[in-house]
Amino acid sequence: MQILDGKIVAQHVKNELKTKTDLLKAEGKRVPHLAAILIGSNGASETYVASKVKTCHEIGFKSSLIRFDENIAESDLTAAIERLNNDEDIDGILVQLPLPQQISEEKIISLIHPDKDVDGFHPVSIGKLVQGLPAFIPATPYGIMLMLEHYKIETSGKHAVVIGRSNIVGRPMSILLSQNTYPGNCTVTVCHSRTTNLKEICLQADIIVAALGKPGFLTADMVKENAVVIDVGITRVPDTTKKSGFAIKGDVDFENVAPKCSYITPVPGGVGLMTIGALMMNTYNAALLNKG
Ligand code: GUN
Repeated sequence: MQILDGKIVAQHVKNELKTKTDLLKAEGKRVPHLAAILIGSNGASETYVASKVKTCHEIGFKSSLIRFDENIAESDLTAAIERLNNDEDIDGILVQLPLPQQISEEKIISLIHPDKDVDGFHPVSIGKLVQGLPAFIPATPYGIMLMLEHYKIETSGKHAVVIGRSNIVGRPMSILLSQNTYPGNCTVTVCHSRTTNLKEICLQADIIVAALGKPGFLTADMVKENAVVIDVGITRVPDTTKKSGFAIKGDVDFENVAPKCSYITPVPGGVGLMTIGALMMNTYNAALLNKG
């Protein structure tokens, strides 16, 4: 069993981007600039956005953090996005989700200019992804693809089971794994809360992507020998032994599943670390698109 180490792969991605950014600086060119919008004070969102901003700094990208109160009116948020869309110095825009209930996520995402949609959530980005066109790929599935590629994991002809059908992870993941490139060329089964024979389907899987947000859900009896298991779960569960008061738990019962696997991602230290690297890749590519 080999661990797919998100720290190593993410560092590799960041080093590559830093080298490219140093080169831009040396040539007197502008560096990629990411704008992050954070609304309210959700603990997890605060942590994610802080990591995104910190990573920009490490690589040499510019970043702008725009914060709004939980009670912001939708019109104020749309005005802020319009401003960023029209600001030639901004290459990528991300609005950290979830949003407060008075704001329509769908409306806000579709307001971001597709050329600046570094989260890859805009309908244009998803449409391009489905058609196999160059597109901003949502950070989590993109991070998983980078990991599979880094460890040269064979995917062609394999049966991949994706548990979860969210717009952010499961759905784009299933599209990417079925595409006619490497990594890809899998036969993909998408499972979800209404799937009746999940265990039987998982037992047929060469690759399982668990992205349902239920800690410890995927147990050893659901996994065949030598499967590749990718754990997307990052649920905070109360843990009084931790300074923060919580531990991060994945969707996989790692202790019992790992011995059966050929490869497995740990939580923490796996997919979660890759997502920021993937976002940075998208931001770099957005800067290439932006001739501002
Ligand atoms: N909330 C959870 N994951 C994400 C993500 O990838 N992007 C944004 N913007 N918000 C999120």
